[in-house]
Amino acid sequence: MIVGLRCAVCFAEVDIGQPFTWTCPRASTNDPHHLLQFVDDDVDTVLDLADDPNPFVRYRGRSAWWAFARARGLSDEQSVHLARSIAGEFEITPCEIHDGLSAAAGITVFAKNETCGVGGSHKARHLAGIMLHLAVAEQVGVLTKRAPLAISSCGNAALAAAVVASGQSWPLDVFVPTWMDAAFGDALRDFGVGIHRCERAGDGDAGDPAMAAFTAAVANGAIPFSVQGPANAWCLDTGRSIGWEIEEQLATTEAALAPIYVQVGGGALASSLGRGVGPTHEIRVVQAEGCAPLDRALHSAERLVDPGRHWSQIMRPWDNPHSLADGILDDETYDWLGIYEVMKLNGGRSIVASEADIERAYDLVNATGPATSATGAAGVAGLLSDSDAGRLESGPVVVVLSGVAR
Ligand SMILES: Cc1ncc(COP(=O)(O)O)c(C=O)c1O
Ligand SMILES: [Zn+2]
Repeated sequence: MIVGLRCAVCFAEVDIGQPFTWTCPRASTNDPHHLLQFVDDDVDTVLDLADDPNPFVRYRGRSAWWAFARARGLSDEQSVHLARSIAGEFEITPCEIHDGLSAAAGITVFAKNETCGVGGSHKARHLAGIMLHLAVAEQVGVLTKRAPLAISSCGNAALAAAVVASGQSWPLDVFVPTWMDAAFGDALRDFGVGIHRCERAGDGDAGDPAMAAFTAAVANGAIPFSVQGPANAWCLDTGRSIGWEIEEQLATTEAALAPIYVQVGGGALASSLGRGVGPTHEIRVVQAEGCAPLDRALHSAERLVDPGRHWSQIMRPWDNPHSLADGILDDETYDWLGIYEVMKLNGGRSIVASEADIERAYDLVNATGPATSATGAAGVAGLLSDSDAGRLESGPVVVVLSGVAR
């Protein structure tokens, strides 16, 4: 059961019963490079794998939101009731053999299909966990006034945030770059969320203006409804559910020990999937050649003792990110440290896929499988790259189709 959180950088600890533990107590605007991670006492709760198709109910015994609810005096029954009212529409997503990919790679390829997830991607998994924390806080009376939620995104995360927030009629401000697709803006507006287009202050101004506006909103009291662990550790709680599902779905198949190819943007997906799935599955992280800050960081981290202490030296923003897989163009891999740790535990490697492989993966996945965006298919580019380089073992592998084609 989860008993608290500990910072992977400065080792500060907080108890699980404390509310709103989004970021490390020692993090500040001048020193933002901290990362809270959940501490498990490894005492298994009998509730694990309750026989329920809803992952939030099924895996509640492993979840931090549930431990928080129990520490705050809610019963298991009350917690399940909350899970059903906040995350009632979630169901375990399929993880099945993908015939087209298997034929192309010449080995069995299992695809975890998040395109049929809530909001059409895996992103809502992260955000429903934060919402559950808030709902518990409200129910036990430590949250009496709803501050607005804030997120910086122009893609699947913003849509997921809008779905989860509007489900609870909770106000949400979305900070987007000026170039956001107009049709996407309209879709967001239909959910009744506040949309803020953020311009770069000047030519020499470094960094993402939408992120800067998000940070300012949080400094003014907004709740970080973020899918980046350093901005809100609680997105990594229920983010693990994708790994828990894969582990259970593959346990009795030939892929019980198979490596998993996963595409990386900000890194919360790979980091929390890796934590969830447990150390039996190698994690192969995939970025596009037009934006590969994680790959560069992992190489630097290898040369340093205690890399978390050298954050800004290791994770440097990528200049001019570009790829067809535009959902993984984060110029920084915010969750690089969690991925680094998971790869130490599970084994794995980093693959930088050529743009040609990103395009090939997109075509291949869509030729025979569920309609998937280029970002959603990008992990497959790593598999193709391994296959071409003769680096594929004979055993089965897993890919994550993380988002629907729009
Ligand atoms: C469909 C899809 N897949 C994968 C990712 C990458 O997830 P992460 O940013 O957590 O690495 C994103 C992020 O936007 C996404 O939208
Ligand atoms: Zn810290």
